[in-house]
Amino acid sequence: MTEEILKISGGRPLHGEISVQGAKNSALPLMAAALLCEGETVLTNVPQLSDVYAACRILNRLGCRSTAEGNTIRIVRESAELYEIPDEDMRAMRSSIMFLGPILGSMKRCTLTMPGGCELGPRPINLHLDAMRAMGVRIREGAGRIFCTAEKLTGAKIHLPIPSVGVTENVLMAGVYAEGETVLTNAACEPEITDLANFLNQCGAEIRGAGTHTVVIRGGRKLRGTEYRVMPDRIAAMSYLCAGAAAGGEICLKDTAPDDMKSCLDVLEQAGCRIGVCGDRIFLDRTGPLRSISYIRTMPYPGFPTDAQALISAVLCTASGTSMLEETIFENRFKHMGELARMGADIRVSGRTAVITGVSKLHGASVTAMDLRGGAALAAAAAGAEGITYLSGLHHLDRGYEHFAETFNSLGVLTERGTFSALEHTFSAANAKKC
Ligand code: EPZ
Repeated sequence: MTEEILKISGGRPLHGEISVQGAKNSALPLMAAALLCEGETVLTNVPQLSDVYAACRILNRLGCRSTAEGNTIRIVRESAELYEIPDEDMRAMRSSIMFLGPILGSMKRCTLTMPGGCELGPRPINLHLDAMRAMGVRIREGAGRIFCTAEKLTGAKIHLPIPSVGVTENVLMAGVYAEGETVLTNAACEPEITDLANFLNQCGAEIRGAGTHTVVIRGGRKLRGTEYRVMPDRIAAMSYLCAGAAAGGEICLKDTAPDDMKSCLDVLEQAGCRIGVCGDRIFLDRTGPLRSISYIRTMPYPGFPTDAQALISAVLCTASGTSMLEETIFENRFKHMGELARMGADIRVSGRTAVITGVSKLHGASVTAMDLRGGAALAAAAAGAEGITYLSGLHHLDRGYEHFAETFNSLGVLTERGTFSALEHTFSAANAKKC
């Protein structure tokens, strides 16, 4: 079967207004948390993504009935006997590990395999397992599977060596059914953690301090399902803002949470964009030249997010001067830099540091997404590049972006999704090389 490709005609300023999707990285843990609830859980503003459907499959294998109707997911736990996540499901979605906490919380046992190493480097789960051990879970590994069992979960004082988002989420979800109190220190503070705690408290849990580095979970309360709206996707919003910054023009994003994006908006302003915020709307106006940024370092929230590193790199390719990016969270998150170089970018990578020397314009080319945010970065760069870009590897994009092509067209970037002849996109790449 020939692969679907995005054909992006770039080089013109963007104009338009879009609504931003609900947050993938909140919807997924919220779906897992539904395992803890009696009755029906209804999640709204859920983005229509392949990762969301993969989570539905895992829930159904765990004895739930989950149905997706547009941006609404309904989840009812029908049987409480199943506690194993099959290998293909563990591999299908890198973040399947977030089911560990709720399965243990509700079943006191869980069998799973290692989530596959992904485009960003190995995805170890040692900190997840350490936290569960601290709560009384016995863990045995054998034949590629991990067997977790516990008579009961007990509240514990857990200090994370790194503020892991996923581990924080698993401790919140396991802690609601542990006996006694769990105190988590050096917890992740991302807004998605707060969204999860708000959901669990609305279901009857007692969680305090979410969004700070110390979270206290009082266990032992029965949770009942509720209706809950997923928070806006701050990284999807940043993705479209970076397309506007790279191509120039004036765009407006609605249904956003600007307060979750302070570090991202600051960096866009440093790069020469004018940013306006009004309620759930963000306005970006980039009519002047882009400016380089001498040093950007990805950090846990509220620092500059690792998920936005690829996105801002697409902007800095045509900023006058030299910019330096340091990726401190993941060890292999520069794969998009080679693809940006195929579009004419001047980038040197050494370990976790990338140095970008701005060029006047990028040109269209045939490029491939190697991971989710790298794909969005290549699309943003294509919006500003002279000529046509063919972007393949769309399965990465489909994991995290709802209606990507339609959204780009709404911003004035002529974008088609289809199976284009190899000749056509080879020809356009050859053409691009000439200019
Ligand atoms: C979440 O991943 C997000 N995914 C990621 O978004 C995001 O990049 C990441 O947090 C950091 O903000 C979801 O929420 C579904 P971590 P997570 O545990 O929880 C190491 C995207 O593009 N680590 O905070 O897996 C780990 O290797 C995705 O939307 C261990 O060493 O991230 C990494 O270096 C990509 N052992 C660091 O911690 C462990 O047991 C931070 O990872 C767990 C993590």
